Amino acid sequence: MTDAINSKRPWTIGFFEHMNPNGITGATWQHPGNTGSDYLDLEYWMRLARRLEEANADFLFFADSYGNPAVDGVIPDESIRMANHIPGADPFAVIPAIFAVTEHLPVVVTASTIFEEPYANARRFATLDHISGGRIGWNVVTSAGAAAAAELFGRDLVAHDERYDRADDYLELSYRLLEGSWEPDAVVKDQATATYADPDKVHPIDYSGPYFRSRGVFSVEPSPQRMPFVFQAGSSGRGREFAATHAECVFLQATTVENDAAAVADIRARAQAVGRDGDAIKIIVGLTVIVGDTPDEAKKKFEEFASYHSEEIAAAQFSHYSGVDLLALDLDQPIPAGNDELSRSSVERFDGWTVREILNELKTRGVRGIISVGTAGEVADRMEAYATATGVDGFLMETYTNPGTYDEILDNLLPELRTRGRAPEPFTTKTLRERFQGEGHPYLDDAHPGSRFRVGLAPGADSEASI
Ligand SMILES: Cc1cc2nc3c(=O)[nH]c(=O)nc-3n(C[C@H](O)[C@H](O)[C@H](O)COP(=O)(O)O)c2cc1C
Repeated sequence: MTDAINSKRPWTIGFFEHMNPNGITGATWQHPGNTGSDYLDLEYWMRLARRLEEANADFLFFADSYGNPAVDGVIPDESIRMANHIPGADPFAVIPAIFAVTEHLPVVVTASTIFEEPYANARRFATLDHISGGRIGWNVVTSAGAAAAAELFGRDLVAHDERYDRADDYLELSYRLLEGSWEPDAVVKDQATATYADPDKVHPIDYSGPYFRSRGVFSVEPSPQRMPFVFQAGSSGRGREFAATHAECVFLQATTVENDAAAVADIRARAQAVGRDGDAIKIIVGLTVIVGDTPDEAKKKFEEFASYHSEEIAAAQFSHYSGVDLLALDLDQPIPAGNDELSRSSVERFDGWTVREILNELKTRGVRGIISVGTAGEVADRMEAYATATGVDGFLMETYTNPGTYDEILDNLLPELRTRGRAPEPFTTKTLRERFQGEGHPYLDDAHPGSRFRVGLAPGADSEASI
């Protein structure tokens, strides 16, 4: 038994946040034990980050999007009243404060390949990588709420698959900027010779892709990880193809055990087909846990949280992700074909369901991954069973309240996972990528397509890099 426990690997455990009053939930800002409405208070994030670092959490993850839950261009009053994806603020702004009060905790932040400019985006991530000593990750998305965001930006909406073609191009340019301009030892800072950087080791890039162009020298000197550690969220077939090429960690939309197992196998096989080690890609799913001392207590808490949801909010939230207004459809029919342009995975998830069934599911589950309600032991058992059946590497914890759900996870569930060898281990490495790839490997691995653009560092020489 002890051997079996010792042979188990810890799971990747991150914590999902949104910089808004509700997080991923419908309307739990109103819960008397929830401080989510303090999301504009810097101390709120600093306090949370310190707690997560103490618990050895693998990372704090910020979901984000520019879109809002507009239905046919209009945000339902109920969404505004209940703060459902509106209002919300920019998580990038609080990340330096998080880094300032933590030593190890990595932060993963979402940035869209549709709405951010590649050069500005690369500069921002390189700067965050520097100031954190290599603790930043980029969740690459082609955008939830893309239709509403396109309106806000005054741009045309790009079609689903083309958004991924653009994202491929965007990443190729990002690799060139972050990996291809500065050799790792270009910066010498030698006052005796009055040389800050060696001009022979700084190179202009010259890129002209189908969607993006860039010429010149990237402005930020080489950072600890160069390319930030790459997350990806978007689970359609085209999304998985993109993930298999670029992602180092995939945030997969959980549906059923069978589908999730197939999706995991598919991503790994696709990665293998493009010359990468499929098993080296981490795959995680969203997980909500409601933990009680008894199953009954947990169930009561869950019912209370569920009571903060309504059909209108569920519909608006679904519309935010998928662009589909469920309330305008025939309740006894499935979603009509042709409604998957904004998010194929959100619609495919409910293949064969009637709109009524979808609304019922969304009313309790929202857009969460898996929900598990019970004692810490029961929840841990189910996590074991799910991970074994699907092959996922870990979980992104989607909370209801802060501090409530955080307390349950950090104080009750993690100790249980620790006894099973599944809790994240203390930090021994500095950069986020090393947390996944092992000490001495802060850069994209050699099989990753981005590594081809690296200048001044022989393949396989990443362990010699000075960071
Ligand atoms: C699990 C998951 C999490 C996502 N998180 C975000 C996010 O934080 N911000 C965002 O703009 N889009 C997010 N998306 C949307 C995707 O970027 C993508 O645009 C959308 O899912 C459509 O692509 P798909 O059909 O391949 O899933 C997420 C998608 C999934 C499946």
